Amino acid sequence: MYIDPKVKKSMETYARASEIIPGKTQLASRRASSYASGVSPVYAKSSSGARFIDIDGNTFLDWKNAYGAIILGHSNPVVNQAVKTQIDQGSLFTINSDLEVALAELLIENIPSAEMVRYTKGGGEACALAARIARGTTGRDKILFSGYHGWHDWYQAANYLADPITGGYPVTGVEPIGVPKSLKGTAIPFAHEDISMVKNLLNQHKNEIAAIFVEPMMSQEPDKEYLVQLKKLAREHGCILIFDEVSCGWRIAVGGAQEYIGVTPDMTVLAKGISNGYAMGAVVGSVAAMEPANHMFISSSYWSDNIGLIASITTINELINRNSKEKFKQIGESLIKTINNAIDEVGIAAKVEGVYTYPTLQFMIDDQELSQNINTLFIQEMAKRGIFTPTSLNATLDHTEKDIEITGIAAAESFRVIMKALEGDLDKYLLADTKKEPFRRIVN
Ligand SMILES: Cc1ncc(COP(=O)(O)O)c(C=O)c1O
Repeated sequence: MYIDPKVKKSMETYARASEIIPGKTQLASRRASSYASGVSPVYAKSSSGARFIDIDGNTFLDWKNAYGAIILGHSNPVVNQAVKTQIDQGSLFTINSDLEVALAELLIENIPSAEMVRYTKGGGEACALAARIARGTTGRDKILFSGYHGWHDWYQAANYLADPITGGYPVTGVEPIGVPKSLKGTAIPFAHEDISMVKNLLNQHKNEIAAIFVEPMMSQEPDKEYLVQLKKLAREHGCILIFDEVSCGWRIAVGGAQEYIGVTPDMTVLAKGISNGYAMGAVVGSVAAMEPANHMFISSSYWSDNIGLIASITTINELINRNSKEKFKQIGESLIKTINNAIDEVGIAAKVEGVYTYPTLQFMIDDQELSQNINTLFIQEMAKRGIFTPTSLNATLDHTEKDIEITGIAAAESFRVIMKALEGDLDKYLLADTKKEPFRRIVN
């Protein structure tokens, strides 16, 4: 296996982790195999603004930003100061903190469908909480879903059924090992934006569906009419419509994808960008959907820790004060234009497309294996030039026009290497191991 001397310490640490940490990392997407293993850094020691420094001492411009969780920029001084002040006043009280109520009020003010609020410490956990409330509120067990919703049993049970498109596991690449087999049939997948599939499933499982659980958008512009129809079907069949905005929320609008699209769900799951790098998740929704949670046992010691609460309040206020909606549009559109210009300049068959908050680079290659190798080669060449990026990019408010310009130059150079590799001799250029997707989500 090739190891660039520049990431020697990262790869040595990863080898140690492989011995003592099952799964190697805590988030599957942080595995070395998700990038250009042997060339991309695996461990960081500090981060600030749009950059991080790895444990070998290399600086990288970051286009992944903790999988979207860093939204203002790494180590944001305003959020960090609020957290530091809070630490000195107490990070977790015996009794409640009124920050809990202040954040709930802020969420209700900004998110169109929010009337009631509960907290968690992360996205998957918040999804599990939303599933519990939907089941408790409707008295039904089954959930129809598309998209990715975390690691908990309620969702991973889907992998006892088949993906409606590929026939493989719905969360492709993840076997349901350790998930109770008795949950088989309780989480039922459907294809993103396939309304007739949803209709059929609702008729097939009449009066049994608690919730329709979707990511309203991800990398592509959402289809408003599809979401309007989904809401109508949820009403007709007495189930709760849940938007998982863990990844799509915040950048597109502080009120989330629902504000941008103009369709409101009964419940919404929030996490990641809500708190700019401090653990936090939330479920918000209508009184009708959430009030029955008064009678359900949903309780945990750290859900009301002051750090996540103050980080969220400060992050949301910063987003509003810095006019984030407009800024993300400017940054995203400029990034798409710049990389597409680099594509045109080099004359490579590729394009950057999708919604400006999550642009995706695609090489026009039919052969699956070659396509994956070329994606890896792109990640490798960008990493060699000090840019840490997969083929889908997440910006922060700290990314500047200069950062975009640097990215465009590095992309053009990387595309030239890819052109040479495509003319023959891929092995000569591709030093890293081919990247592997930890899982595939059923959403575009
Ligand atoms: C839409 C969506 N839901 C849930 C999750 C899980 O969130 P977490 O990793 O914080 O548990 C993710 C994470 O990527 C996500 O994108």
